[in-house]
Amino acid sequence: MHKTIEAEGDFRVAKVQVEVGQSVPGGTLLLSLDPVEEEAREETGDAPVARESKHAELLILGGGPGGYVAALYAAKKGKKVTLVEKGALGGTCLNVGCIPTKALVKSSEVYHHIKEASAFGIEIEEGACKPNLGKIIERKDQIVAELTGGVGYLMEKNGIAVLRGEARFLSDKEVLVAGEEETILTFDDCIVATGSKIAPLPFPGADLPCVLNSTTALANRDLPKSLSIIGAGVIGLEFAFLYARLGVKVTVVEYLDRILPMVDADVASLMMEMAKKEGIKIVTGAKVTSFKQGEEGEAIVEFEKEGKAHLLVGDKVIVAIGRAPNLDGLGVENTGLALNERGRGIKVDGHMRTNVPHVYAIGDVNNLIQLAHAASAQGILAVDDIFGVERSFDATLVPSVIFTAPEIATIGLGEDALKKEKKPYKKGYFAFEGNGKAKTMNERDGFVKVLAGEDGTLLGGTIVGPDASSLIAALTIAVTKKMKASEVAGTIFAHPTTSEALMEACFDVDLGALHS
Ligand code: NAI
Repeated sequence: MHKTIEAEGDFRVAKVQVEVGQSVPGGTLLLSLDPVEEEAREETGDAPVARESKHAELLILGGGPGGYVAALYAAKKGKKVTLVEKGALGGTCLNVGCIPTKALVKSSEVYHHIKEASAFGIEIEEGACKPNLGKIIERKDQIVAELTGGVGYLMEKNGIAVLRGEARFLSDKEVLVAGEEETILTFDDCIVATGSKIAPLPFPGADLPCVLNSTTALANRDLPKSLSIIGAGVIGLEFAFLYARLGVKVTVVEYLDRILPMVDADVASLMMEMAKKEGIKIVTGAKVTSFKQGEEGEAIVEFEKEGKAHLLVGDKVIVAIGRAPNLDGLGVENTGLALNERGRGIKVDGHMRTNVPHVYAIGDVNNLIQLAHAASAQGILAVDDIFGVERSFDATLVPSVIFTAPEIATIGLGEDALKKEKKPYKKGYFAFEGNGKAKTMNERDGFVKVLAGEDGTLLGGTIVGPDASSLIAALTIAVTKKMKASEVAGTIFAHPTTSEALMEACFDVDLGALHS
């Protein structure tokens, strides 16, 4: 017998618990309902809030390099896009990540070049130049403001509606945006791009004023004399090199027995040498147990190494032990969205689809790979999927750059991974010591290492040395397009450039590098 069930008053459907066509035994929960007026009062504390309801063809939650790039791409393809952002446009990358740190890295490089000016035949009087961290931070803030303003302009130019406020799923099909006003949005498709947050610190004393993280460190205007850094990963080492180059005494404490666990061991060991050259002290195999603040405001780090307790004292400490997907306040509990193991991010397939139809998750929030350009690529892929274009995400084809001194850039498979998987491979190697342009730049440290399968097809590689961040683009194209090392070696590279080191490494795979 067909049966209908009527609501006994005014309710908002919070969740539909079953699918149409599903057989359910007696007593199964079918729907969850929220009383309409009470819920509105609860959130404001007094009178019910007027809520406008709108429909978005494509709703994007988060305006970082994942969300805003997806918005631009979709708008250019003719979608009507609504983008919700609770903070500044540009997300972590533009505001407190990639861009601001690179602005600081550049200032530290300039100071470093001035200090080594005599090597270039330029005489500078001792003490004639010093870094002013306040001004360095001001310059960084100006660059950030220009870029985030630029994103706002692009949104407007491409007809993307930007809604300011915090987005929370009310159900699989509805999102509440709490800004100056409250708006309930329904959508044809939704892309979640809410990024990541600094992982909570597991040590006592983490909230002391002398303890900084990768966000608060970017606003610190007083150049410390000494600095402790916890974590020898990407963020930790970028800060270590930039502060060391500004003349700060830096000590890095790392839990593992090596630095930079994401790169090949030979690269990490070169970077240990480079750190030593910059005066950076690195303590590995050390477990931080707590932070304390001394009477003069100094940061005291307590750590254990080889069963013994140690104290490390510095003016400040920066903690960089990882970032976690940002699901805060997103209302995932009101949806059927499945999460990854241990709740680390929203689970997606290779098309960035979640298990909820028409809901995608891109960038740090899906925790596949925490890189701005990976988020942008995933955003484009999700939009393509909405348009019915079948493509799938390949994390091995995402290049990655670490802005230490020298820079480290990688693409594809690493040598350690190939060895571990017992995959046969051929290696090509060329040291920047043999590159003319590198010598003129006085940047001779580092190498290009390319890895190829037995038939010579390029599988990946690492560039550590001058211009690595730009040179990786050529190797990325070669690896993505499955080119053979001999095809790259057979390409004409301009002379004199650091790119010739890539050509030489590719020659080295079969014939041997020419200039060695
Ligand atoms: P990470 O995962 O790169 O490194 C964290 C390091 O901290 C690891 O070496 C880990 O062993 C160590 N660690 C963890 N707990 C510790 C403890 N209790 N005591 C001492 N050491 C400890 O994380 P990081 O550097 O915070 O970066 C976060 C994310 O942001 C990464 O996925 C990174 O790829 C991304 N990022 C990328 C940049 C780039 O592309 N240039 C720049 C900055 C960040």
